[in-house]
Amino acid sequence: MIFAANLKCNHTRSSFKLYANTLNKALESTNDEIIVFPPSIAFLEDKCNFIQGAQNFYPCVNGAFTGEIGKMHLDEFSIKCVLIGHSERRALGDENLIKAKFDFAKEHGFKIIFCIGEDLEIKNQNKTLEFLEKQLKIIDLNYENLIIAYEPIYSIGTGVSATKEDINKVLEFISSLSKAPLLYGGSVNENNIKEILAINHCSGVLIGSAALKVENFIKLIKG
Ligand code: PGA
Repeated sequence: MIFAANLKCNHTRSSFKLYANTLNKALESTNDEIIVFPPSIAFLEDKCNFIQGAQNFYPCVNGAFTGEIGKMHLDEFSIKCVLIGHSERRALGDENLIKAKFDFAKEHGFKIIFCIGEDLEIKNQNKTLEFLEKQLKIIDLNYENLIIAYEPIYSIGTGVSATKEDINKVLEFISSLSKAPLLYGGSVNENNIKEILAINHCSGVLIGSAALKVENFIKLIKG
């Protein structure tokens, strides 16, 4: 199973060091794939028992892009995994930039967790599947290092995950388009994680709030 933690704009360099130390110890023997996306200011140079990923980057190696982080900066921390298309970033940019990020990350062989998800309005209009298909149209669904995360916007940070039936329907649909491992994200917590991981085609979870405390994240991993 894949357990990914998106720490968003939380944790500092010093608090993430403690987080990583505790997680490293807990992961000395695990067969699961664990990915953590810390804020980029907190990237660690040390070798970890988990994969460090970047929440965001700019599709360049380096250059005149004020305030951005390029591949050169990710390389310094041996980061080979990126999150693209999270709804909190989609709200800030356009789809051309998402496509440029995907193409750049693919060209450089990064593991990509590509996030898609509809809002409540689209869900209530019964347009979820066509909306998600459109979001997937801009990327190479056969890319071998691709993971797709289904994260309905109405479930992110709300404490209310999508229903088992809705997740099942969506993952079934995505699996007809791509062989990539599929994650679910959106208010995953200790009360619903077992049920979510048992859903057909579900290869893991992308966790926000419930992974902010490392002890909680470890509990979720160890079941
Ligand atoms: P959440 O966030 O677990 O707090 O809902 C998930 C995410 O945004 O990836």
